[in-house]
Amino acid sequence: MKRGLFITFEGIEGCGKTTQAKLLYEHLLKEGYRVILTEEPGGTEIGIKIRKILLNKGHDSMHPLTELFLYNASRLQHVMEKIRPLLNKQYIIISDRFMDSTFAYQGYGRGIDINLIKCLDEISRQGLRPDITFLLDIEPELGLKRHSSRELDRLEKESIEFHRAVRDGYLEIARAEPERFIIIPAIRSIEEIHDMIMEKLRALICHSGTL
Ligand code: TMP
Repeated sequence: MKRGLFITFEGIEGCGKTTQAKLLYEHLLKEGYRVILTEEPGGTEIGIKIRKILLNKGHDSMHPLTELFLYNASRLQHVMEKIRPLLNKQYIIISDRFMDSTFAYQGYGRGIDINLIKCLDEISRQGLRPDITFLLDIEPELGLKRHSSRELDRLEKESIEFHRAVRDGYLEIARAEPERFIIIPAIRSIEEIHDMIMEKLRALICHSGTL
């Protein structure tokens, strides 16, 4: 049975991925596609509760492995309850973050063993992979500056070195899988980036013939 399309957005804090995910959602909706915008951690009632625990800036004592398990718990619930059933109904799913965030943040950022992350990742994704991933790449100094006007959450409060490691991690992950990733320089204007995304997607929708 043909399934819909699974699109993910990735990047460090302040890269503009949430803005782009929303713009894309609105654009596809206007064109008449059946489309859902979702996010990680979150996306389900249980996931939203997990998100609150993860981002609570008072939770300084959270062990890195607790963090890893919680992100994976949110993902498994998301895949089973929402993403997979909707893909089977031929929806386009746009997710603001997915599996690559865990490799970048918990792997490259926290330094957790990549083999352990891979093990949990297989369980939480249940064989599901994004069809295309847009990585909005930006210097951490610039990204964090965009966020500095509001109160920072537990992850945003991390050091600049942490965010640098996450960014480098993302670039390494993306370069290893060029057929899935589109790396976009996030310093371009909102409109320019949106146009680049639409151009890539039109080609994919045409080729896949799934929609
Ligand atoms: P957001 O604010 O971009 O929605 O993301 C929430 C935070 O959670 C962000 O700092 C990145 C972090 N995160 C991880 O560390 N690992 C993950 O697997 C995911 C999905 C997010």
